[in-house]
Amino acid sequence: MTKSKFMLCAVSVAVLLSIATLGKVGAHGDVAPQAVDISGLPTLGEEWLEENPWRDPEGEYWKRAIEVGSSGYNSNCARCHGLGAVSGGLAPDLRYLSADIDGDEWYVERYINGYTQGGITKMPAFGELLGQEAAWAIRTYLETRPDTDMLADHTPALTDIRDKLTALAGEQKTVSELEADVASLKASMEDIASKIESASGAPVADSVASKAAAELDGSDGSVARAAETLKVGLSAAK
Ligand code: HEC
Repeated sequence: MTKSKFMLCAVSVAVLLSIATLGKVGAHGDVAPQAVDISGLPTLGEEWLEENPWRDPEGEYWKRAIEVGSSGYNSNCARCHGLGAVSGGLAPDLRYLSADIDGDEWYVERYINGYTQGGITKMPAFGELLGQEAAWAIRTYLETRPDTDMLADHTPALTDIRDKLTALAGEQKTVSELEADVASLKASMEDIASKIESASGAPVADSVASKAAAELDGSDGSVARAAETLKVGLSAAK
């Protein structure tokens, strides 16, 4: 057998083995891993990075990484680690893993290898199956989750803004006619967003306040979209 054929063989065996392992995660149902759509993110190569390449909120890929990560997390990790990254106690709450190289090292170790105890797979290995772009996107999503208590502190103010935006969206006026009212609500939301920190210590939390504020960009329908984002986000937070 040539070296490359041997390598190919070894890789297929590794993949088959991990699929076999995945099949055994009986306690939580035999759920196959869900492919993650990583379009819009750059490829990172074979070698595993040591640090999240998309941590910087000013970086080109931060926003896309959170979107990809949200979907990747909720289809592959949420059944054990909790919907929206809020753990129900079955497995650790991943929002609190520190957003630095130490946290990254631990995160990647678990992601690549999973966790087996006494021959029982408690967490499947994802490294081979989902790859590292999905890994770091999920990591970016996790580390930008807002601190729930801080979000709760601002829920009354955000509810009030939601009602005002809903009323404005219902008026038969153009976005530019509403400009002054919308600008002041946007400023209040940005102020609130700056006070809601991430649970992981990451510099910026991707909260419902920051999301709705960003949506108020003056485009058609933006007022209604921001009102909807607040409505959905605030009811999920309860
Ligand atoms: C079948 C259940 C299950 C699934 C699915 C699962 N995990 Fe886990 N995970 C666990 C359990 C159980 C532990 C605790 C293992 C231990 O005691 O260290 C854990 C631990 C971890 C840890 C270490 C956390 C810490 O604080 O020590 C990370 C990171 C992690 N998982 C990431 C993920 C990611 C990312 C996904 C989705 C791609 C995922 N897990 C999917 C069950 C699961």
